Amino acid sequence: MDEKELLKQAVPPLLGWYRLCKRDLPWRKERTPYRVLVSELMLQQTRVEAVKERYVEFLRRFPTAERLASASEEEVMKAWEGLGYYSRARNLYRAAKIIAEEGFPQTWVGVRALPGVGDYTAGAISSIALGVAAPAVDGNVLRILTRFFADSRNIGDQAAKKYFSELLRAVYPPEAGEFTEALMELGAIVCVPNGPPMCGACPWSALCKAHAAGTEEQFPVRSEKRARRVEELDVYVLKHGNEFALEKRGAGLLAGLYGFPCVRRGETFPAAGKVLAEKRAKHVFTHVEWHMLGRLAEAAADGDYLWATAAEIAEKFALPSAFKAFRAWLK
Ligand code: ADE
Repeated sequence: MDEKELLKQAVPPLLGWYRLCKRDLPWRKERTPYRVLVSELMLQQTRVEAVKERYVEFLRRFPTAERLASASEEEVMKAWEGLGYYSRARNLYRAAKIIAEEGFPQTWVGVRALPGVGDYTAGAISSIALGVAAPAVDGNVLRILTRFFADSRNIGDQAAKKYFSELLRAVYPPEAGEFTEALMELGAIVCVPNGPPMCGACPWSALCKAHAAGTEEQFPVRSEKRARRVEELDVYVLKHGNEFALEKRGAGLLAGLYGFPCVRRGETFPAAGKVLAEKRAKHVFTHVEWHMLGRLAEAAADGDYLWATAAEIAEKFALPSAFKAFRAWLK
């Protein structure tokens, strides 16, 4: 039997399993295209557990694309505080403005053209919100499919992603959205990434080639990951009376957000006076790690900063999580 036929046979058991066993997640209720867009952007690079409550709060605040489009950028960034990858919030805001003007796109191509939407997210949104037969292939889906076929393709290769996307596209059932989410769900709760998969609970165990051979954990095959670049930073929490200095960040990580002034380790920082406390902290981004030495210091000069009290910072500024370790100094 060829791959397509085998995968076709795997569709009904997967859908049946999904209907019985899927997790009760807030974005699986009261679906509208806008709500699907919000959930899929929030879920990019972010764990389901971290998104659950924030999704509900965000929709309470911005229940429709029109409401989001008419908010200020600061309000939107504030509602995103702590979720990280802030470019997603900015993209969502831009997308809401487009949707408020032109309506929600009705095709994969239209969805893919929205800001912040790549191939994976376009597949997820257009299948879940519009019922289009469009696969959403990420690392989880590649894991379950390489195990299913005992396929040793390197999942780091674009060609592997393309191959499995085409294979899936050829077997998409009319319940497109359910199928997309069933694939994600299988990867999330049964065919898990760390530790042995739970083959006893898997709707594919009788069809899965890796399971038949007992080689589940030899898949997926991937090339060595590139190590993250480490940046050593000195972070200054400058205090002047009961106010603290914030700086709007330029291009690069956390661009456009307010944060504490930073310099590369070893560079001098003339705006700092007497150092009152020091603390080390680390923050891991996708491709970069910040190793930070934080210093609470008296301000030696006004500098070109925005000065705010602790209460103002908590209320008005979406201070990125990367600086969380130094928040305790704001008092
Ligand atoms: N990850 C990305 N999209 C998701 C969804 N709709 N449900 C669960 N996990 C997801």
